[in-house]
Amino acid sequence: MDDLYREQIIDHYKNPRMKGTLDPHDISYEDDNPLCGDRLRIDVRLGADGRVSEAAFSGQGCAISMASADLLTESIIGKSLEDVRAIGKAEILEMLGIELSPVRLKCALLSLKVLKAGAYGLAEVHDLD
Ligand code: FES
Repeated sequence: MDDLYREQIIDHYKNPRMKGTLDPHDISYEDDNPLCGDRLRIDVRLGADGRVSEAAFSGQGCAISMASADLLTESIIGKSLEDVRAIGKAEILEMLGIELSPVRLKCALLSLKVLKAGAYGLAEVHDLD
């Protein structure tokens, strides 16, 4: 693993910028990684223009799942729901910047699964399982 990216992941894990919950929220969804049982919740608030004004994540997980959740929630501020729904695996992997084994890929994609389930209102997330 590239040292720079390793440091970025550890930094986001240890010093998350987006950790917390939002109450009230417009979107809130929670799910787990079936391989390990780690759970993640993502809350989103939308502004009057329909774009994401605030986002937060909470839960327990490994460094990769938590860093991924932090980077992802940070990245969606200002985006429309349509743009959020269009985020794919490639963007997550680009944010993390590392090669991942299939098991670690599930960790990295947990946040995307949760966010997209919330953004779609539960539908069409099976391609991430
Ligand atoms: Fe559970 Fe990574 S080991 S999400």
